[in-house]
Amino acid sequence: MAVGIFDSGLGGLTVWDAVSKRMPEVPLVYLGDNAHAPYGVRDADDIYALTTAGVARLFEAGCDLVILACNTASAAALRRMQEGWVPADKRVLGVFVPLIEALTERHWGDNSPPREVAAKNVALFATPATVASRAFQRELAFRAIGVDVEAQACGGVVDAIEDGDMILAEALVRSHVDALRRKMPHPDAAVLGCTHYPLVEEVFRDALGPDVTVYSQPSLVAASLADYLARHPDKVGAGAEAAFLTTGDPKRVSSRATQFLRREIPFRAA
Ligand code: DGL
Repeated sequence: MAVGIFDSGLGGLTVWDAVSKRMPEVPLVYLGDNAHAPYGVRDADDIYALTTAGVARLFEAGCDLVILACNTASAAALRRMQEGWVPADKRVLGVFVPLIEALTERHWGDNSPPREVAAKNVALFATPATVASRAFQRELAFRAIGVDVEAQACGGVVDAIEDGDMILAEALVRSHVDALRRKMPHPDAAVLGCTHYPLVEEVFRDALGPDVTVYSQPSLVAASLADYLARHPDKVGAGAEAAFLTTGDPKRVSSRATQFLRREIPFRAA
């Protein structure tokens, strides 16, 4: 069985890229819900309905394990899905926990009580829906104490990236970093809490300066998935077909994806 990777659009390709480099032997089926992106400005019920539809499509494509490579879906829908929607023989995992484990210096499954960690002032950059959910702060509170989190809802960045307007995306990132600094002048760590943002990671790094440690998800999620599959080898099997599926226009999505990853990424209709 292949492993599924779901995102509202193109952002999850940053996770796909890291996973495919780390585990080239695992067939991956990617589904981008480009017809409904961005999710970050939708309400939680809407995000839940769209995410369950997308994940059901990946189950249908032969995936027993699906990674929600979308913080917005992970924040607004994952818990509800795990509580009553995911069938017993399937798994759906989000992208928040690996990031928070890295920030709080923990290994997978370390459920010891929350403790002090090196990061004290953390800037969270995410979509409006992720910020509104407070899921990041909730997961962090299980693992760390004494961390001040300032969240910046980065309106417009995902739309600009989906439209391929990188000049606008860059300008928006710089203005969101400025806005964050007005609330928290000296963050020591910054979390790029949206899978689209690694596509403009250099702009975040440049605007934040060298004193801020930037946590970006793709490699953390890939490492955590490799670890999960080593513990649950039954969740992947040989022989399934890799694919890129989209609910949007395959031609348009393929050309954007190829531009971002600088290699041919052929999408077909989901
Ligand atoms: N890339 C997604 C995330 O990680 C969602 C962006 C969106 O659709 O607004 O949050």
